[in-house]
Amino acid sequence: MESCTNDTKILFWKRYLIYIRKNRISVNILLGFNVEVNFVFCGDCKELLNQLDNNSVQLFLTSPPYNKEGLRGKTSVWTNWKKSIDGIKYDVYEDNMKEDEFQQWQIELLNIMYDKLKDIGSVFYNHKVRRKDNSAVFPDFVFKTKFMLHQIIIWDRKTSADQNDNYLIPTTEYIFWLKKGNNPICNKNDCCFKTEVWSINPEKNNPHPAPFPKLLATELIKLGSNKGDLVIDPFGGSGTTAVAAIDTKRDYIIFEINRKYCDLTEKRIKNALLLSKSKLF
Ligand SMILES: C[S@@+](CC[C@H](N)C(=O)[O-])C[C@H]1O[C@@H](n2cnc3c(N)ncnc32)[C@H](O)[C@@H]1O
Repeated sequence: MESCTNDTKILFWKRYLIYIRKNRISVNILLGFNVEVNFVFCGDCKELLNQLDNNSVQLFLTSPPYNKEGLRGKTSVWTNWKKSIDGIKYDVYEDNMKEDEFQQWQIELLNIMYDKLKDIGSVFYNHKVRRKDNSAVFPDFVFKTKFMLHQIIIWDRKTSADQNDNYLIPTTEYIFWLKKGNNPICNKNDCCFKTEVWSINPEKNNPHPAPFPKLLATELIKLGSNKGDLVIDPFGGSGTTAVAAIDTKRDYIIFEINRKYCDLTEKRIKNALLLSKSKLF
């Protein structure tokens, strides 16, 4: 009986460790301690954000899903992502929540970020004008959060696959620069863009369907944080924010729900670290 109990205990711990390794969850987070930095957490960002200490983060930089399918009332289930003009398909997250639920979810997440942010911290939240029934839909839910708007940076992508006879080619996205109230860190002199319109081509060499260009992430990180600060991307995707944080000598945490993109992020992080070490010699 005694040995049976021990065997059961050993089995439990073995399974527990395999679970942790499989899900790349640190023991710290499971025990409710602080989240590890310079780490990729594969899981739901709301759960993970809640684990962070209040007033601990200098910068959130993120591009959430746009719910393009949901906005148009499309609720079909997709098994694989593929690019399309109509919307972007993800492996795990389907871009098809009911629009009011999607907005409520985003407002809730932004409000959690508000609590976790330092007083001089910033959120750079990327979103864009979407189209429904041939009308433009502005992402005004961003103004329903606890945040104050510091500035809107316009990302001019220069090109778009969306060509329609009824409207001009939409080539821009927004970076909503949100703050708690105090003036956030603004390293204008370190940033290569001097106006609020940033012309940067979309990223091409990335298997993720909707990645940031690395230049966009790098310049935003330099603008809103200092070396050694903590930068978090709750919708990490392919991990561009982590790569940009390594290049600019910041700490990072990436949350991403899709295992495939977590693996891609880890691969990119390894390469970025190798490159940064090789630059030292
Ligand atoms: C627009 S992409 C981010 C792309 C990223 N900026 C990059 O450079 O690769 C949004 C990501 O959010 C992820 N996602 C969706 N729901 C999530 C959730 N609840 N928690 C964490 N990640 C989620 C999707 O899998 C997708 O990879």
